[in-house]
Amino acid sequence: MPADTPRREIRAVAVIGAGTMGGGIAMNFLNAGIPVKILETRQEALDRGMATMRKNYESQVKKGKLTQEQYTQRMALLSPTLDYADLKDADLFIEAVFEEMGVKEAVFRQLDAVAKPGAILASNTSTLDVDRIAACTRRPQDVLGMHFFSPANVMKLLEVVRGKQTAKDVLATVMALGKRIKKTCVLSGVCDGFIGNRMLEQYVRQAGFLLDEGCTPQQVDQAMESFGFAMGPFRVSDLAGNDIGWAIRKRRAVERAEMKYSRTADKLCELGRFGQKTGAGWYDYQAGKRDAIPSALVETLIEDQRKELGITPRKIAEEEIVQRLVFALINEGAHILEDGIASKSSDIDMVYITGYGFPLHRGGPMHYAGELGLFNVVLAMERFAKNPLDDAAFWKPAPLLAKLAAQGKVFD
Ligand SMILES: NC(=O)c1ccc[n+]([C@@H]2O[C@H](COP(=O)([O-])OP(=O)(O)OC[C@H]3O[C@@H](n4cnc5c(N)ncnc54)[C@H](O)[C@@H]3O)[C@@H](O)[C@H]2O)c1
Repeated sequence: MPADTPRREIRAVAVIGAGTMGGGIAMNFLNAGIPVKILETRQEALDRGMATMRKNYESQVKKGKLTQEQYTQRMALLSPTLDYADLKDADLFIEAVFEEMGVKEAVFRQLDAVAKPGAILASNTSTLDVDRIAACTRRPQDVLGMHFFSPANVMKLLEVVRGKQTAKDVLATVMALGKRIKKTCVLSGVCDGFIGNRMLEQYVRQAGFLLDEGCTPQQVDQAMESFGFAMGPFRVSDLAGNDIGWAIRKRRAVERAEMKYSRTADKLCELGRFGQKTGAGWYDYQAGKRDAIPSALVETLIEDQRKELGITPRKIAEEEIVQRLVFALINEGAHILEDGIASKSSDIDMVYITGYGFPLHRGGPMHYAGELGLFNVVLAMERFAKNPLDDAAFWKPAPLLAKLAAQGKVFD
């Protein structure tokens, strides 16, 4: 995209949905002095969303991060509404309603009817097809994805998702606006999970296989934390909610039935152990505390699963744990580059450093692969492919990775 691509003026923003994400998204703009109108379907949901935002700001005031005056100024820029007609002057709309295509399509039809010509229509969807959402408007060139991360007022990463028909000036505007609200923006194409979550699925799948083969969740977490991750995969899952991955796997079972994964995570969810929010997940939690306590029940669950599969557990070295999880990111990252979903390997690295707690000093997964030498990464993958309990097909190196390794080159 040429540097002199024109930009559209963003003076007012509308957010649809005042739930976990909608509230956090709105706060980003209020903090930057941009007025926000926030819409809900019911007064009760609107009141709840407004109360959460107030509580967030009040806690910042208490901690001395915000003055009372700043708090008042920010809240004065926020207008709650139940009526789409009130949104007609917005330059940018960001939808953050339930993750269901039918609900999103209905919202975008409404936005198409109310928005002025030239307004930008964005979806915060995590998994749905942005092109399909765009197709239910008469202005697909004005539609794109703005994938914020939770908590949206804190997390730095913003994946800007380019639809097939998204206009260049729309992208340029949103990338610049992202900077104004102090985000690190990375451009992604449309695919299931975009850059970050598409890679994460492979990482989490390996973590599941490791449990079946002989690890405990705490062993895997500890290995990844020693490597430098802010949190290991099981602690992250307990924090984000194990039900999110469960919902994705249920969809996968229909769309990609051949995809192999460990069933232990499903069994955990069948017990209602969704993580911190239910007081139990991969770990046990004491009321009001976040410390992850190893769970005897989960250990039994994992052992039962091994028995069901006829697996004799083995001792797995920390090096193997780290390599399987990180190399899974690298291989999927190479596919993402090849598919043109990311335009350069450093974009993938930025996603992982700013959104997924990848150790900064290692430079991101794709850079780290280069430091190890791609040839060594490929050799390890060939070894992993021979493990009958793993997914041999996945470990076939992505063609780009195989090519660069053979040429002695790196991604960046
Ligand atoms: N929670 C996360 O970690 C996360 C991260 C990134 C993206 N997302 C995406 O953000 C979106 C919202 O997720 P969330 O976690 O905030 O969900 P949520 O359930 O907390 O909030 C959704 C809100 O939308 C409202 N809503 C539903 N239908 C509506 C409609 N037709 N019009 C207006 N409001 C409506 C609901 O009342 C609710 O308050 C989803 O698409 C989700 O995939 C979530």
